[in-house]
Amino acid sequence: MKEINISTKLLGLFGNPLSFTLSPLMHNTAFQQMGLNYLYIPFEVQEENFAATIKSLRYFNFVGGNVTSPFKTRIMEYLDEIDEKARIIGAVNTISLNNGVLKGFNTDGEGFVESLRYEKNVEPKGSRFIILGSGGAARAIIMTLAFQEADKIYIANRTFNKALELAEEVNKIRKCAEPVELNSTEIERYIQEVDVIINTTKVGMYPDVDKTPIEIKEIDKKMVACDIIYNPIHTKFLKSMMQQGCDIVTGVGMLVNQGAEAFKIWTGKIPPREQLYSLINNILVNK
Ligand code: ATR
Repeated sequence: MKEINISTKLLGLFGNPLSFTLSPLMHNTAFQQMGLNYLYIPFEVQEENFAATIKSLRYFNFVGGNVTSPFKTRIMEYLDEIDEKARIIGAVNTISLNNGVLKGFNTDGEGFVESLRYEKNVEPKGSRFIILGSGGAARAIIMTLAFQEADKIYIANRTFNKALELAEEVNKIRKCAEPVELNSTEIERYIQEVDVIINTTKVGMYPDVDKTPIEIKEIDKKMVACDIIYNPIHTKFLKSMMQQGCDIVTGVGMLVNQGAEAFKIWTGKIPPREQLYSLINNILVNK
């Protein structure tokens, strides 16, 4: 590891709990490979100490970091500037501290879109999507797809009203969203006309690996199925879509690319993406 010294630029990950995070390994590996004098440290912060923690960044060599659950919305109170897209998404996962200005960004949606582009050459512009879920992650992805001129976004959620509200908000940016019921029969009606289906619900995540948000019996077109869960890498949903002949994008794609987008904000450089994919895939496969 490069020597840590008084010039080392610090980055923090602020959240709670952080026991499963792969971000420190990912970023520190990239800094090392590129010979950059940066250090990324996880800080498991108690709710009552969050404000003081963020304030203290200004006293040290911090240049930014990431913010995760449960602080992605609350961080917005403590920022000097908020990127327009993060403001519309309503959550911040990346911060930068430059010349005393603490600015917030959201790289979750862009990270997802970048994984689709990088792995499958799919552009949001003109493409059609079904999103399962309407939580924070879904919102970041859906808004980003709308910013990038998706043709159609069907939003399916267990609580239909949340899908309805989200679709209404999206349609103010671009008229492309439509809420649908989250059940297999309903999804089967729409699936034949979309290019990409994305699971953003937590259904299928360890330890509930035998669960899937939907069971699709037949797909007669080539499409891409994505899951943002990366534990396990191949969820029941992805396995069944693969059996139907779909191309897949695992949750490693969004994990690596949201990190890569943040890395670019902090350093102005592109990290070694292929190596980061291998690093994360190896860890998760051998878990
Ligand atoms: P995140 O920030 O990871 O997106 P979240 O904001 O808590 O997490 O959102 C979780 C999403 O998973 C929601 O869309 C939720 O559906 P509801 O709005 O109906 O709660 C969905 N979800 C969670 N458990 C689910 C389950 N067992 N079946 C279907 N959807 C589920």
